[in-house]
Amino acid sequence: MDLSVGTPVDPVPGVVQDALRAAADAPGYPATHGTRALREAAAGWLARCHGVTVDPDAVLPLIGTKEFIASLPTLLGCGPGDTVVYPELAYPTYDIGARLAGADPVAADELPPAGLPPRPQASATKTTASAPPGPVRLVWVNSPSNPTGRVLSAGQLAGAVRAARDRGAVLASDECYIGLGWTAEPVSVLHPDVSGGSFDGLLAVHSVSKRSNLAGYRAGFVTGDPALVAELLEIRKHAGMMMPAPVQAAMTAALGDDAHAEQQRSVYAARREQLGSALDKAGWAITHSEAGLYLWASRPGHDCWSSVDLLAGAGILVAPGEFYGPAGAQHIRVALTATDERVAAAVRRLSTLA
Ligand SMILES: Cc1ncc(COP(=O)(O)O)c(C=O)c1O
Repeated sequence: MDLSVGTPVDPVPGVVQDALRAAADAPGYPATHGTRALREAAAGWLARCHGVTVDPDAVLPLIGTKEFIASLPTLLGCGPGDTVVYPELAYPTYDIGARLAGADPVAADELPPAGLPPRPQASATKTTASAPPGPVRLVWVNSPSNPTGRVLSAGQLAGAVRAARDRGAVLASDECYIGLGWTAEPVSVLHPDVSGGSFDGLLAVHSVSKRSNLAGYRAGFVTGDPALVAELLEIRKHAGMMMPAPVQAAMTAALGDDAHAEQQRSVYAARREQLGSALDKAGWAITHSEAGLYLWASRPGHDCWSSVDLLAGAGILVAPGEFYGPAGAQHIRVALTATDERVAAAVRRLSTLA
């Protein structure tokens, strides 16, 4: 039972497959900015589902969000001597992006006031140089979080926006799991309660991989500060970062339809319920996990590796928390992205450990 990765396993929605097929005859180059229909579908979804109003022209398609996360520091011109900050427990690509640009990656949940260097916990810092980190150019936030499922409140996000703006840094919010709130309601950084009505220096990154089971299509978008998005568009045009036209049509259909996303959400809710309760009975405590596609769990007397071992002995593969930062050393990450049959099998195996 492989619960170690967050890759969707349920079918691509019919409405999306139909749109892909209908757009199969695509001999010409697609526009890097995407079709007007795609940009309007993205803006429409943000308004309808997340209370965020954006100009469709400030929407930029991405070939999946991972490539963008890995390249953003480079696209922003970050380099040696610049600092990129991301959460202490985080998706590893924020760190990779900083390294690819030659910038200093710093894992820290909070920024001190402008003028002071970020001070991550000694064990959490990824900087190797003895010199203090240089100016902060980019701050990543990720709510709901991978791996912990933690949701930041509007007030917490607004604090992160203020701290980034005080330093003149760009704040990029990875909102990959925003539609999957369980016991907390995730909010976008572009929501007026967070942004204060101004998108200056803000970017929100959205993926349809999880919402619409489209990880195999590679589709997402970024939006926010129109001037920043225009610069990113210009660079991406010249770098050839074009989303294929049939995928543009597929993403347009996906963002225009909420029924399939609701249905998929209820599938994950049921799996979350079953796995959460089986882990609990088997002795694991669940922390955070208010949203998203993972359960963040720990077992008294076990670190992440002995939990991984114990579960592997029962045929269940999970991810050690340490993969996401030293602060995860006591936890495991359990993905909800397995078929109902595999989840039921995992639940049976977990009962043998209770
Ligand atoms: C936090 C986070 N951001 C971004 C991604 C990348 O998603 P994609 O490249 O499929 O859009 C993932 C994938 O698991 C993720 O967990």
